[in-house]
Amino acid sequence: MTGEDRLRWFNEARFGLYVHFGLYSLLGRGEWTMYSERIPPAEYAALADRFRPVPGAAREWCEAAKLAGAKYIVLTTRHHEGFSLFDSAYSDFTSARHGCRRDIVREFTDAARAAGLRVGLYYSLLDWRFPGYFEPDRYPESQAALVEYVHRQVRELMTRYGTIDLLEYDGGWMHDLKGGRERQIDFWRSRELNAMVRELQPGIIINDRSGLPEDLDTPEQEVRASRSGRGWESCMCIGDSCCWGYTRFNPNWKTPAQLIQHLVSAAAGEGNFLLNIGPAPDGRVRGEELDRLRVIGRWLSSNGAAVRDSRGCDLIGASQPGQVDLNLQGCWTRRGRTAYWCVFRWPGTTATAVRVGTRPLRVRMLATGEEFPFEYHELSGRFIIRGLPELPPDGLCTVLEVEFASEPALKVEPSPADWLLG
Ligand code: GLC
Repeated sequence: MTGEDRLRWFNEARFGLYVHFGLYSLLGRGEWTMYSERIPPAEYAALADRFRPVPGAAREWCEAAKLAGAKYIVLTTRHHEGFSLFDSAYSDFTSARHGCRRDIVREFTDAARAAGLRVGLYYSLLDWRFPGYFEPDRYPESQAALVEYVHRQVRELMTRYGTIDLLEYDGGWMHDLKGGRERQIDFWRSRELNAMVRELQPGIIINDRSGLPEDLDTPEQEVRASRSGRGWESCMCIGDSCCWGYTRFNPNWKTPAQLIQHLVSAAAGEGNFLLNIGPAPDGRVRGEELDRLRVIGRWLSSNGAAVRDSRGCDLIGASQPGQVDLNLQGCWTRRGRTAYWCVFRWPGTTATAVRVGTRPLRVRMLATGEEFPFEYHELSGRFIIRGLPELPPDGLCTVLEVEFASEPALKVEPSPADWLLG
């Protein structure tokens, strides 16, 4: 299967839900607490017996994903703290042997499939409990044991839970941050690891965090497009950047409009948006998150055509430089001859796009189908849509669907001063 084939469903989806859940969720101070508070493993391990997500928690995460209009869902099967949410022959520190004594990964993969979602598993290569991770030269045996255990656990994840659509590695960096990707690949024996994964799961998409590029670039907390043709996915917290795992007190929630703009910007750059939630200690999805997911889902139900399976579009709105992350007025996406102008900052009754090099045939509001008159000046490339409502029809993002005579293209301005002549 070629990389392009593997990425087909992923590019159609454009939007996934990330779930960070582990022992750190019980503490409510983010998923790095064990390390950042230097809690010794023996003390931290006591949390395991308190790990009792409500029955049906995984179903609730999947329902939240559906509500939001996400097409896939990714669960942290083991984060840096080392607690596995699955039954493992290579670790006692698991949800199957402590607390709830359940295989949460099994519940999750079953629930995701039942909900019609593609299944993604996050797995952290590093595990803070191994001194050999921090100082491989000083603790070579621990380092070797860590890597062996990682390979075996990845094999378990790839063989016990049916088809896995997406594998999201994390924690592949060296603790001293030295040596770049080559050292990571060496340390984790990533080539061997990923060859095993591909043999066991031929259609799987693998991210770039084992040090090898594989299928996906994964910028974090920002929407950053890769070169055209390369798969990419921006993951982002629904609150601010330091809380992937449940953070009990965090005043900085992103607004629904911000979240939709990130999703649209990712689609405009031909990439995906993986939005993260951090369920509460009992595994329930908190209200602040659910509210935001619901709003995104509502928006997608009438505007999904602008992002699903969309391609990048050259066109620019008025007075914007066109970069994915620098959209002043909004951004354009495209499918065939149809383009979608996703307007973030509503201009009032007239919307002007410039340097349009292709003849527009029809303008409609995507959510309502209402048509609007327009003018197109072929020589200058000015495209003026008139008769729009004074106030934004959708306060989050209004999408204007424009059908063009052929695939829309940007006009080259022969001289930057020509427009002054009218
Ligand atoms: C980072 C963090 C981690 C988080 C992840 C999300 O690498 O270490 O806590 O899970 O990114 O992709």
